[in-house]
Amino acid sequence: MAIDAAHPVPPAIARPRGKDQVPAHVPEELIRSSGLTTGPQFLASPHDFMAGMHRDYPPIFYDVNEFCNAWQLIKHADALFALRHWEFFSNEGATPFPRDPHDYFYFIPIEIDPPHHRKYRNIVDPLFSPQGVLKLEGLIRGRAAALLDGFASRGECEFTTAFGRPLPVSIFLDIMGLPQDMRDTFVQWAVALLHSTDRAAMAQAMKSIVAYIKQAIAEKKAHPDAGVISRIAHAAPDGTPLSDKEVFGFVIFLFIGGLDTVFATLNNIWLWLARNPDRCREIIARPDDLDDIVEELLRRWSVTFSGRVVAQDLQMRGVKMKKGDRITCVLPACNFDPEVFPDPLEVNFDRPRKTILAFTVGVHSCMGGHLARLELKIALQEWLKRLPEFCLKPGAQIVYRPGGVVGPESVPLVWAQPRR
Ligand code: HEM
Repeated sequence: MAIDAAHPVPPAIARPRGKDQVPAHVPEELIRSSGLTTGPQFLASPHDFMAGMHRDYPPIFYDVNEFCNAWQLIKHADALFALRHWEFFSNEGATPFPRDPHDYFYFIPIEIDPPHHRKYRNIVDPLFSPQGVLKLEGLIRGRAAALLDGFASRGECEFTTAFGRPLPVSIFLDIMGLPQDMRDTFVQWAVALLHSTDRAAMAQAMKSIVAYIKQAIAEKKAHPDAGVISRIAHAAPDGTPLSDKEVFGFVIFLFIGGLDTVFATLNNIWLWLARNPDRCREIIARPDDLDDIVEELLRRWSVTFSGRVVAQDLQMRGVKMKKGDRITCVLPACNFDPEVFPDPLEVNFDRPRKTILAFTVGVHSCMGGHLARLELKIALQEWLKRLPEFCLKPGAQIVYRPGGVVGPESVPLVWAQPRR
């Protein structure tokens, strides 16, 4: 069965799991079980754990676990190389999301290697360019202000549900052309897919997302609008309309990639701000440096990873990798590489500018990166204008979710009521 001429059904790419499935070419001394994304040490304080990887692990090691064994790359330079050389490190089969092999589709653009990849990005990139997202500034600012107006006088909130989640998710739904009243349901599905360690729960979430997206695409085909789903559904690069599977794989990936990442980032940053009120004062005092401030916060609190499949045998740092092996660029660890970012856990708004890996680099660099930066900037401005001083609610328990997008589950905050 062909998906379409450009992308036939891929051969099954092995997803080796556990100690019994370590390939013979992996040397014993490079095998570890780090517990990255799921283990108790990681979940106690994920970013400290990932910074500590430079002390506790070799620069490249083979991580064995019950989900998917893979080489882990933690050096900034190694990740730059891997992410910029798709001819060695392919994206085909690199995502962890389950699919029905009898109704296979690609996640677009993330699973497509060049040269086909560009045709898809060209459809949506203009909307997400720095100039494109600036058109959304008023909408984002208005939404942030309205949310804050709803709870600022209460003296407390749970940050995730009051602000961190509704702000980016509601903007995303507007961009896509999806209804606001489905917001919480979408988030529930995305969280189950991205954070469940139970494959059956992931598959169930995937089923719900698939059914909803199929119906949304049919509706946009019949009634075009200005949203991204409609744009993709009606796209005809080089005069040829995308196939149904291409449209579906594209829309569903945006849904997965765009819902969870921004609020995880905001949660991490607001937790840190709540614990460091002097840094709120510093941000307020430096309004002209906000772009550098946002960049440093994204380095310090990056939330996700880049997985790839080795496309041809190669060696890195003397480590032999073979075609079909999996790698993960541990982007937060790369952002803590002390050779590139001295004193890496320190939030230093005056660091010399270096390439940060929060949004990855290379052909698959995040399509939503400029939007995310703008949302973070506006969120800081609007929040600190109204609530310059806040702290963690006494007794609050901070719990991190396992999975591929790193952030605390909830961040309960309190602040003094404004005097009347
Ligand atoms: C702070 C928020 C965000 C972070 C940290 C983030 C991070 C990333 C990373 C690391 C990748 C590369 C994954 C890989 O190499 O395997 C990526 C890709 C992508 N992201 Fe984001 N993302 C964010 C927000 C968004 C938003 C809001 C959207 C959509 C509106 C989005 C859409 C995408 C898409 C479509 C790709 C695939 C790009 C391609 O394959 O060409 N992201 N993102």
